[in-house]
Amino acid sequence: MKFKSIPGAKDILPAESHRWQHVEQTFRELSHRYNFREIRTPVFEQTELFARGIGELTDIVGKEMYTFRDRSDNSLTLKPEMTAAVVRAYLQHNLEQQQPVTKMYYLAPMFRQERPQKGRLRQFHQFGLEIIGSPHPEADAEIIVMTAEYYSLLGITNVELKINSVGCQECRPAYKDKLKEFLSPHLTELSQDSQRRFDANPLRILDSKDERDSRLTADAPLQKDHLCTECSDHFSRLQEILTETRVLYTVDGRIVRGLDYYTKTAFEFISSALGSQDALSGGGRYDLLAKELGGSNVPAVGVAGGIERLLLVLDAENLFTGNEVAPVVYLAAADNESRTWLYGVTQMLRKSGIPSDTDLMNRSLKAQMREASRQNVRFTIIAGSDERNRNEVVLKDMESGDQSPVAVDKIVDIINQKQSEN
Ligand code: HAM
Repeated sequence: MKFKSIPGAKDILPAESHRWQHVEQTFRELSHRYNFREIRTPVFEQTELFARGIGELTDIVGKEMYTFRDRSDNSLTLKPEMTAAVVRAYLQHNLEQQQPVTKMYYLAPMFRQERPQKGRLRQFHQFGLEIIGSPHPEADAEIIVMTAEYYSLLGITNVELKINSVGCQECRPAYKDKLKEFLSPHLTELSQDSQRRFDANPLRILDSKDERDSRLTADAPLQKDHLCTECSDHFSRLQEILTETRVLYTVDGRIVRGLDYYTKTAFEFISSALGSQDALSGGGRYDLLAKELGGSNVPAVGVAGGIERLLLVLDAENLFTGNEVAPVVYLAAADNESRTWLYGVTQMLRKSGIPSDTDLMNRSLKAQMREASRQNVRFTIIAGSDERNRNEVVLKDMESGDQSPVAVDKIVDIINQKQSEN
């Protein structure tokens, strides 16, 4: 075969799509229960939106974006994340005029040119929540509590919530200086990546996966211990609400996130079932993003989680993830004229809401019966010229093995009745 999908961009085949539908459906229903409404934005945006929103110095903007020029020489980028796009839409359509607090959810594909590995793809899918308009810790809690409930509804137990505060414009500059002061004697011993980050983004050095970096920063000062009163109060309130709602968490001063827009709360849901790419989801508060994108000061908080990683955890925990689509009835014809007539019966069943399938290959009756067993249907309907002439079919209950003639206008009632019996 000449063509293959791009490495890191996967097909979701018919045999696995029901698992996707299950996690998506659960997320949608839960979002509606929490009064979030769906937002969908285009797959591509102006490159500048992400460069400014996520931060020029981040890995995402620096090395991972799928950026291209269209025929009018505009620089466009396939969205690597949704938050900047959601804020762009919020500002563009003046959503604040409709309600003071806007609660939105999404399920969408994202694109990042990373080195593919388990749990790390180039086209991946995120579920996400954004609350725009509230500066209060109750909004942070709403995001975290719903995410925790989502994992719990899916049956996932192997998940841990880590929260942190990364401060704000008031307290971060002084903390940054403290951190740099601590790191500067070790500067040349740090990894290349961390040395590069030292000037512009020293906080990221704290979540470096490099072992030597971890050792050198073991006693580094943490932002959570150097917060201004406002950030400190916000962080305490958030913890009180989480405790009140019985959401388990640990405070981890090293959660700094890979996107530059965070202020105050930053958090991650981690699963040890995932190996090195252990973040199931992550998020936080981003009070400065709207302003950065040219809007007014609008406080906001959100989360996004990888669906592929979620499915990996469901697999690892051996959890049931939804029912495959399967017909209830298979209709098998004994001859060609009955085949056409039986197609009419098939349509009648489908229109009555009974999932049904029939032969599309002109196969023998025996082969059709084999197909019915292969599809594991509950009922098989068989008809030949005799049945057709009497406007009847033979209905076979594949569970009990019983079979009997049934008038066409009684089929739906009988099937519905038998199904409600078990
Ligand atoms: P993020 O941490 O970059 O945050 O991504 C969120 C989640 O998406 C990750 O925890 C992970 O589960 C999944 N993910 C990220 N990259 C990949 C990849 N290459 N392959 C598979 N899964 C991946 C954000 O995107 C922020 N927009 C989250 C947010 C929303 N903050 C506020 N609101």
